[in-house]
Amino acid sequence: MVADDHLSVLKGYGTYGIVGAVVVAVLIPAFLATVFGGKKKGKQRGVPVEVGGEAGYAMRNARETELIEVPQKGATTMAALFEQSCKKYSHNRFLGTRKFIGREFVTASDGRKFEKVHMGEYEWQSYGEVFDRACNFASGLIKLGHNVDTRAAIFSETRAEWLIAFQGFFRQNITVVTIYASLGEDALIHSLNETQVSTLICDSKQLKKLAAITSSLNTIQNVIYFEDEGSSDTSVTGSMGDLKVASFSEVEKLGKESPVPPSLPSKNGIAVIMYTSGSTGLPKGVMITHGNILATTAAVMTVVPSLGSADVYLAYLPLAHVFELAAESVMLAAGCSIGYGSALTLTDTSNKVKKGTKGDATMLQPTIMTAVPAILDRVRDGVLKKVNEKGGFAKNLFNLGFRRRLAAVEGSWFGAWGLESMLWDVVVFKKIRSLLGGRIRFMLCGGAPLSGDSQRFINICMGAPIGQGYGLTETFAGATFSEWDDTTVGRVGPPLPCGYIKLVSWKEGGYLPSDKPMPRGEIVVGGYSVTAGYFKNQEKTDEVFKVDEKGMRWFYTGDIGMFHPDGCLEIIDRKKDIVKLQHGEYISLGKVEAALASSNYVDNVMAYADPSHNYCVALIVPASQALEKWAHEAEVKFNDFAELCEKAETVSEVQQSLSKVAKASKLDKFELPAKIKLVTEPWTPESGLVTAAMKIKREQIKAKFKNELNKLYA
Ligand SMILES: *[C@@H]1O[C@H](CO)[C@@H](O)[C@H](O)[C@H]1NC(C)=O
Ligand SMILES: *[C@@H]1O[C@H](CO)[C@@H](O)[C@H](O)[C@H]1NC(C)=O
Repeated sequence: MVADDHLSVLKGYGTYGIVGAVVVAVLIPAFLATVFGGKKKGKQRGVPVEVGGEAGYAMRNARETELIEVPQKGATTMAALFEQSCKKYSHNRFLGTRKFIGREFVTASDGRKFEKVHMGEYEWQSYGEVFDRACNFASGLIKLGHNVDTRAAIFSETRAEWLIAFQGFFRQNITVVTIYASLGEDALIHSLNETQVSTLICDSKQLKKLAAITSSLNTIQNVIYFEDEGSSDTSVTGSMGDLKVASFSEVEKLGKESPVPPSLPSKNGIAVIMYTSGSTGLPKGVMITHGNILATTAAVMTVVPSLGSADVYLAYLPLAHVFELAAESVMLAAGCSIGYGSALTLTDTSNKVKKGTKGDATMLQPTIMTAVPAILDRVRDGVLKKVNEKGGFAKNLFNLGFRRRLAAVEGSWFGAWGLESMLWDVVVFKKIRSLLGGRIRFMLCGGAPLSGDSQRFINICMGAPIGQGYGLTETFAGATFSEWDDTTVGRVGPPLPCGYIKLVSWKEGGYLPSDKPMPRGEIVVGGYSVTAGYFKNQEKTDEVFKVDEKGMRWFYTGDIGMFHPDGCLEIIDRKKDIVKLQHGEYISLGKVEAALASSNYVDNVMAYADPSHNYCVALIVPASQALEKWAHEAEVKFNDFAELCEKAETVSEVQQSLSKVAKASKLDKFELPAKIKLVTEPWTPESGLVTAAMKIKREQIKAKFKNELNKLYA
């Protein structure tokens, strides 16, 4: 989505200039390589450590001998950290929101209507102003009648008021329940009911949806909505029965008129109950303490190089996702500016951006942003597609530039920032970088493992290191994080300094800490970021959270990892995704899927193995463009895409391609799906078949395609 319609990158450079640049660019690095060459090898990033609890192979961060619990000095709760930052950076820009200019609907050729928005400059509020707003909101809540002994929930897309409300709640020691805006209705009812929420905050456009469900929720008393500028929907109140409905600014005003003294939380108090879209069944509420938030925040601050008030962060991922919440906590602790945007308005050519107007990244020119692999993969595909479409000289130049940079990055880190790098930047990459504003210096990536190819690609095209984080809601996103000067790919770095990572044996799956050449096993996270467990679910909590004899909490992730000699972790499998076939071989569905996904016919894939057979099968969401292109070339006739997917020759073409990529990834014979089914509808978070981070949800997909799977085994 980021790169959609770009890469006019290669237009308009004088040919002579380019030839000159290329000559210099090829000669100089050869010289530099001789002078400065040699890999920066052997930096130890994690070191083995003795810890309590279950036996295994444990590692700690190499830079810190003691675990870090809080950022800098003083604050032990989110409320205190927020207050500290707001005082320290009082006059600095804090939260920025784009000025709304207009909205229009355009009709596509097929009659569908698309909303386009025109947004202007960022308008900023200082740390001092935001602090006052959070205090006003907290007082207003009490005046409105919120009972401080009950919980409140935020159900909204990412925006400045989300963070202000969040901090406001903490000033009255209120636990906040967070829910993905894209979660289904059942999940929403379940989470609000389970936590007995009495005040709910939402976008004005969610009000209608809520009106429909509040009848099944008897604990909700107050609904506060975020106003939307330019929203056509003004008929918001009235239909909500006995509920008190107020706008966010009304509540702020109430509080400003009659301030209430704060009642601040303590370190071990539950700050957030975060509902995660589990891959099975109803979502689970993870109880996150103030201490957990501060631990991850403190640890990640040590990882981003020279983070400070000059940095500008582009916020657009869901704040109800732990990864974004952790990232914004880090930014506020460091005094950075946070500019809000959305995935649909990120670049000048994003779907919702009115033609000729600017996307969020162009307007904000962030220095830091977060991304999930699904988005980076799309950036990469978009750029490559454009390059291929251009063809000829432009394509050759891009490829040459890319190869040179790749060799440099893989060779020595010095080369990565040398003179040649500057030349290639001017000739080829500058325009790609301008997609994201041109100033990105660090990207935080998390949510799922990023493929090595994509990581390299973004490294080179964006010219910025990617810090790959590994963490779960259960560890408030904090477990491991790759360091900025680590140029390897496919790994998630050493343990963050707020905790330890231990590998314990999983005999059934054949992964042991004693494995050679590298220790392997189930990843267990211990330390200050490990949360208090699942809300009202002691059984599940006891199953995956353990406390050792020294009082340290450990979380059993269910992921399988491997430690490299330098102390960095690589995620290699998931416990849940391993199935024992009829003849006793173990098949790792995730491994099969990762391999098959590299076929250019595959948009999405789920492998499935029935333990009573000796082979596996797969559901494939085909890449329609690639498949239709093949059909035209092979002169296969079809009326629509669905029909094309039903054809035997299509299935056979895709299977041949799978067979090729399986060989390339050295899959065993039983790991290549014996039969496949092509399904035409894309898997999106809205369809409930993938998570917001675009991870497939096996149980949901299995349920939806039950008949198809049965047929594959028939
Ligand atoms: C809400 O929770 C109660 C138990 O606390 C349960 O009996 C009731 O069925 C739930 N209602 C809904 C709508 O889920
Ligand atoms: C904050 O609220 C919790 C209950 O949610 C309570 O146990 C705790 O004592 C309160 N903390 C303070 C400092 O009042």
